[in-house]
Amino acid sequence: MAILVPTVMAPPVDRLPDSLPRLSGRFCIYTYGCQMNEHDSEKIASLLQQMGLQAVAEPEAADVVVLNTCSVREKAGQKVFSELGKLKRIKQRRPHMVIAVCGCLAQQEGERIFRQAPHVDVVFGPRNIPEFPELLRRVVQGERRVLSLSRPRQRPAFDQWAVYRRSPVVGYVTIMEGCDKFCTFCIVPFTRGRETCRPPRDILMEVQALAEAGYREVVLLGQTVNSYRWEDVTFAALLRMVHGVEGIRRIRFVSPHPSDVTDELIETLRDYPKIARHIHLPLQSGSDRILRAMRRTYTQREYLEKVEKLRKAVPDIAIGTDIIVGFPGETEEDFQETLKVVRLVEYDSMFSFKYSPRPFTTAWKFGDPVPDGVKTDRILRLQALQEEIQLRKHRALIGSLQEVLFEGPSKKRPDELEGRTTHNRVVNVPADPSRWLGRFAWVRITEAGPHSLRGELVGAEGTDQPLSGPERL
Ligand code: 5AD
Ligand code: SF4
Repeated sequence: MAILVPTVMAPPVDRLPDSLPRLSGRFCIYTYGCQMNEHDSEKIASLLQQMGLQAVAEPEAADVVVLNTCSVREKAGQKVFSELGKLKRIKQRRPHMVIAVCGCLAQQEGERIFRQAPHVDVVFGPRNIPEFPELLRRVVQGERRVLSLSRPRQRPAFDQWAVYRRSPVVGYVTIMEGCDKFCTFCIVPFTRGRETCRPPRDILMEVQALAEAGYREVVLLGQTVNSYRWEDVTFAALLRMVHGVEGIRRIRFVSPHPSDVTDELIETLRDYPKIARHIHLPLQSGSDRILRAMRRTYTQREYLEKVEKLRKAVPDIAIGTDIIVGFPGETEEDFQETLKVVRLVEYDSMFSFKYSPRPFTTAWKFGDPVPDGVKTDRILRLQALQEEIQLRKHRALIGSLQEVLFEGPSKKRPDELEGRTTHNRVVNVPADPSRWLGRFAWVRITEAGPHSLRGELVGAEGTDQPLSGPERL
């Protein structure tokens, strides 16, 4: 677990929970799944820190352990139960340790978590984060098996600002939560609930506070982020409002739904330079037959038309995607359609998954007829194709200049900093963190792998024409 950093920004006083119970001790949070979960963990950490608890990286030293779970695929759930097995042994040595399970698996399994793992003390859903301090107080006072699940109309934890965040440079901001699309494979509408949007005024207040705390980039979060609507404020209009916040130099958003990529959004991406030249556009499948069975609301042709429009407006836009292989009924021909789209679009990044049946979903009743060996074969072919595309695209960048925002230490080499380009490409650069962390710089690309680039510093932020006048470094 990464230790979170204080951001010196606090929510307006009237947004703070009235009286948080005070506790002492240490806590540790495990986060599984998506960026929404990562941000929820920041909110949970902030509550625990405000209650007086200290963050630690290892559960052996923790008095409160939180597992913020994912249930989008079965494997994610299995990981949680295997971790709970390990925690059971620690709890035998340290019986006062409180174990909390939250997130999507908690919402899906509810009471059953206690049955499978009787050493768990608290289970709460994704919309119950603001209640966590109170639930914890009840456990500390001796109550056992405290459960709080989200009700369908419950508001998400929008008012719960994260004051401790994993990055001092890139800040997550929730703009909506839940999903009304009900793709037939997806459990999210059942765990995160119906689509609920946050008022623009609150979003802007948080972005403003991040800018004042020194943040340079914001990532707007939502399950189908571009379905956002508040009265007559569309997602594109919201982007333009966020664009006006001084100090924020880069804006990203995850994850949009292809059907809600409107002309207005495309024009906004074209005309507002702080918006990153990158869009994640989950395809899921290239076959019309499978897209219909998945209830994705677009055909291959409509999807490709969106890509064409985006590229016409923003020629260098980087496009990422999610693809599922082995959905019930997927034949080799269907899969060939997926490969065809991948070859046509030439994605800049991809997450690929083997289909995993989820309870409650419409597709659950179709079973899981595609054998695992076939899924493995398909995913390997898909990944090999994608790797070839990415490597080719990355190699073409060698020698070019890229503007990079340095976000933190490199995962590969501790003496290097890691940053991202506007196209969301990861670049590792030998650079002094005390000088470069949180700053934009011009970097010349020297090496390229399929998943990241390496480069050298050429000029600092503000040097518009790095070739003609790079700052002395
Ligand atoms: N099986 C496999 N992958 C899934 N995803 C969502 N549900 C499933 C499932 N049941 C994938 C989709 C989605 C990403 C977040 O996870 O590709 O875009
Ligand atoms: Fe799941 Fe589909 Fe909603 Fe995405 S749009 S969260 S895949 S139901």
